[in-house]
Amino acid sequence: MAIADDIPVRRMNFEFPEDMDLVFIEDDPELSYFFVAAWMMLPHLEPYLIRSVQAAMAKVQDAPLLEEMKRFCAQEGQHYRQHAKMNAVVKRIHPAGPQLEALESEVEALFQRWTATKPLRFNLAYAEGFESMTAAGSVTQMEVGMFDYMREPIRGLMFWHIMEEVEHRTVCFDACRKVGGGYFYRLTVGTWAQMHYLGLCKRFAGAMIAADPETIARYNTPERAEKRKARRKAYAAKALPKQLATYMPWYNPRTMRLPDAFEPARAEYTSLAASVQ
Ligand SMILES: [Fe+2]
Ligand SMILES: [Fe+2]
Repeated sequence: MAIADDIPVRRMNFEFPEDMDLVFIEDDPELSYFFVAAWMMLPHLEPYLIRSVQAAMAKVQDAPLLEEMKRFCAQEGQHYRQHAKMNAVVKRIHPAGPQLEALESEVEALFQRWTATKPLRFNLAYAEGFESMTAAGSVTQMEVGMFDYMREPIRGLMFWHIMEEVEHRTVCFDACRKVGGGYFYRLTVGTWAQMHYLGLCKRFAGAMIAADPETIARYNTPERAEKRKARRKAYAAKALPKQLATYMPWYNPRTMRLPDAFEPARAEYTSLAASVQ
């Protein structure tokens, strides 16, 4: 298949009303806030990934890989722009708005500093650590049918985004192999990157949860707690083997088994993007 078909650039136009429900995962305010909070970082993190991949492009001669890297940057560029629209609304309607903004300034400065001062192979391994975790998570989310119990418009934004994360899952991996470090470097920096990123996610999510105890309490019934527990158990059972597989020396995102929901989602968002243009 042509690269343009594998990694198409879809220009979406999601709309986020001021009264949208931030508890977009049914009966699960904590997990909803975890995602919403983590996405606050995207307008800072994804440009950092783009800068890293663009810097690597200067060292790559392989034309198909260069085209994939270009398309990776274009997809990520669309992701953070759509997320930034949602983030602006979140900061207006959620009581943690000012704290989220302060955290955003902190991560922006951090990722800018890393672009300026860290070696390219570190920045690429960080990108690959993030991308391999995202791809494993995205495939799991489709497999367990998480999008069946989510609310629009956040559902649509997330589904489009994670589907494209699966589309471009090989790009940072290949770029890392060409101009980055070897397996042990990818493993150590990549795993560290995942811990680092999740640590930041916890700080953003912690701010949202702490500022809104009423919403958390409203969903705190035994039946809902039981439902959340069962869903998380099912998720972990599917996610864990996929995440562990990314740490193996023979890991290659090309050989990942893709869920049945992947191709229909690609077609759906391609036609939605066509209606936007
Ligand atoms: Fe993305
Ligand atoms: Fe990505």
